[in-house]
Amino acid sequence: MNNTTLETLISEAEVQRRVSEIGEEIRKDIPEGQIVLLGVLKGSFPFLADLCRKVSGDVVVDFVQISSYGEEKSSSGVVQIKKDHDINIEGKHVIIVEDIVDTGLTLKHLIQLLTTRHPASLKVASILAKPEAMKHKVPIDYLGFEIPNAFVVGYGLDYAERYRQLPYVAILKEEDS
Ligand code: IMP
Repeated sequence: MNNTTLETLISEAEVQRRVSEIGEEIRKDIPEGQIVLLGVLKGSFPFLADLCRKVSGDVVVDFVQISSYGEEKSSSGVVQIKKDHDINIEGKHVIIVEDIVDTGLTLKHLIQLLTTRHPASLKVASILAKPEAMKHKVPIDYLGFEIPNAFVVGYGLDYAERYRQLPYVAILKEEDS
């Protein structure tokens, strides 16, 4: 039987400190006007919830959900919009809010799609990125932490839908027992 153990990689305090900094950076870069924070479900929800309270001024929140086809996801895979945003983003300052950029495939497709909807600006905030795993070059304007190419959970990230609620980021290790 396999036992799983969690090894803390980024503490709750570190996460919260960085989210506050990102919130301030975003408002500094877009000093006036409404900012649309567009969370990518499901994993972005804790980051989005914390971030939206750290960006001052006029902020609105919306979500998209992407579905990827099976194992192909990390190579040539196909991604599809499962839930589209409700807010009209034309002429708006939009920040895509992601939990993690792994290969970059999801983000690449999302950027391509949203660009066709003519936002005033389109930027990306991701709490985590695995630079060693990135196959598709995508810009990350606001990055929380670069992490090694390991499987992580917590702060929105799951393993079979578990661990999303953890306030910190941990490496999930499977051990034979
Ligand atoms: P990408 O399209 O390869 O960049 O994959 C992004 C998505 O894969 C993320 O939004 C996560 O849902 C999932 N993912 C990638 N790495 C991890 C991980 O280490 N733990 C949990 N989910 C992950």
